[in-house]
Amino acid sequence: MTKKPADSKATRSRIVGSKSPAETARAKLRSTTPDAVSVSLTVNGARHALALDPRTTLLDLLREHLDLTGTKKGCDHGQCGACTVLVDGRRINSCLTFAAMYDGAQITTVEGLAKDGALHPVQKAFIDHDAFQCGYCTPGQICSAVGLMAEGRARTADEIRELMSGNICRCGAYTNIIAAIQQAMERS
Ligand code: FES
Ligand code: FES
Repeated sequence: MTKKPADSKATRSRIVGSKSPAETARAKLRSTTPDAVSVSLTVNGARHALALDPRTTLLDLLREHLDLTGTKKGCDHGQCGACTVLVDGRRINSCLTFAAMYDGAQITTVEGLAKDGALHPVQKAFIDHDAFQCGYCTPGQICSAVGLMAEGRARTADEIRELMSGNICRCGAYTNIIAAIQQAMERS
């Protein structure tokens, strides 16, 4: 009877210490992961210095690294506005931007709008007008409305509608959202 040769491929690999296919795949994956970049930014008044994968979006930085889950991930493609935050006072879709681009910036999320225990006028107006149903779009709507007011370009309901059109509400609470923003504008 013929004996199986002792020096099969697997045995030879173990003897010479070469990597298994799984180890080779893991090493390849590690070699394609970019080096971390240092990012320092201020979020809701608190300074954060982080080492991040440069592909980290601002939205994932907020939700996954800082546990600020008020900002919502809806589409993750710049289509719904659920992820709207303020960067140096300007509203942006945080899912569409890399955190590393905002080194040194001041970020405000919905968690940072209330001051000294008092709601921001836009937050209060949303409650007064019952401007939400499920609430998923609400943090983005509120941050977007704060940015809209700072821009100073909307005066009429139609202008508010047009300039808030990037914020989708799947519950269709638009009538109350517009009323809430009008109230906040009148009282500011
Ligand atoms: S989650 Fe960013 S626009 Fe939809
Ligand atoms: S309140 Fe439900 S999506 Fe706007």
